[in-house]
Amino acid sequence: MDKLIITGGARLDGEIRISGAKNAALPILAATLLADGPVTVGNLPHLHDITTMIELFGRMGIEPVIDEKLAVEIDPRTIKTLVAPYELVKTMRASILVLGPMVARFGEAEVALPGGCAIGSRPVDLHIRGLEAMGAKIEVEGGYIKAKAPEGGLRGAHFFFDTVSVTGTENIMMAAALANGRSVLQNAAREPEVVDLANFINAMGGNVQGAGTDTITIEGVARLGSAHYRVMPDRIETGTYLVAAAVTGGRVKVKDTDPTILEAVLEKLKEAGADITTGEDWIELNMHGKRPKAVNLRTAPYPAFPTDMQAQFISLNAIAEGTGAVIETIFENRFMHVYEMHRMGAQIQVEGNTAIVTGVNALKGAPVMATDLRASASLVLSALVAEGDTLIDRIYHIDRGYECIEEKLQMLGAKIRRVPG
Ligand code: EPZ
Repeated sequence: MDKLIITGGARLDGEIRISGAKNAALPILAATLLADGPVTVGNLPHLHDITTMIELFGRMGIEPVIDEKLAVEIDPRTIKTLVAPYELVKTMRASILVLGPMVARFGEAEVALPGGCAIGSRPVDLHIRGLEAMGAKIEVEGGYIKAKAPEGGLRGAHFFFDTVSVTGTENIMMAAALANGRSVLQNAAREPEVVDLANFINAMGGNVQGAGTDTITIEGVARLGSAHYRVMPDRIETGTYLVAAAVTGGRVKVKDTDPTILEAVLEKLKEAGADITTGEDWIELNMHGKRPKAVNLRTAPYPAFPTDMQAQFISLNAIAEGTGAVIETIFENRFMHVYEMHRMGAQIQVEGNTAIVTGVNALKGAPVMATDLRASASLVLSALVAEGDTLIDRIYHIDRGYECIEEKLQMLGAKIRRVPG
């Protein structure tokens, strides 16, 4: 397995381009199954999860055409099987996103039940209940979700999400796009990636209103046609590189991004002492050589502070002035990075869903292990500022969510290299 070796101490300074958003690209690729003609999706990030989704399409008989800029053309009419097999689904939970579109467009689907993952049990009961509300018959057996639309197709429905679920909202929105009649989703997720998906469905001729609020109304249409669509920028990649500059007391300008989709993160960075300026598609953070100040934060559904930035801010607090409390309210086990940071000398105490982080003057490089996508990013951030070398193992987690992370950090002056494992 590849490893990363990072020698800490370099104050980052430079400019990088932000890639397309993984968590918008995945539902948008799934939504191409709804079309009855070829659809092109651009600005896809070069990530393992994206190639997994493309591989899943290949297994189902759809041969995506990929151009040199990794724009993908998909024509779902060539689909041959409506089964998403376990050996692919187990590597990427977001495969569940093909369930709604397949039932809506082809009348049935068999998708392996995604297991739990490192950060929590990750149930999919809301995905299933939402489709049942639209008339689908669903059995879960042998580790597979077997879904069948009623005669005449799915029926529009009112559905209340008793927990805000990003992919749950996305799955039911996609199914509703081709259902008969109107659907109203209440307590829907408001994430920008949900809005990007709604815009894509509307670009194919759909009728989705209210995305970005907690009530989304979808008027089902008979067919969805071809479209060319460009995925939004990745707000979590954006936030991660801003924190990289903050922990090293440096400066970074991130381009091809959008400052309006991570306002809670920018507020916390200002509270930590960062000087932030923004433009239409760029953000510049400058610490002017200062050490960050510790911040308190509590994760919650958008527009509140995102759980996907929690680990990165624990890295910031670990070397900040003062003590910060970090409360994780979305997932039940998302502090694994803390125990790896202890190996680097971090002073962090976990009590239930709260991590109390007392900043130290210096972390020490050490061999550590990545456990999940964002946890591994936080280990990279800690290594950038630690004294000496840090060896990070199991970095396949990083490759799932960060395109060319070592090249982008090298462009900012970091001493980082990949060691093939
Ligand atoms: C999406 O996961 C993201 N993944 C996650 O990003 C992100 O952390 C998460 O939303 C929260 O923002 C993608 O978009 C591909 P949820 P998702 O359904 O949709 C409970 C990353 O790092 N729940 O919003 O799976 C669930 O247990 C990944 O890129 C149910 O109870 O998360 C959790 O407590 C990690 N029943 C809460 O809802 C369900 O049917 C929020 O989960 C579904 C979810």
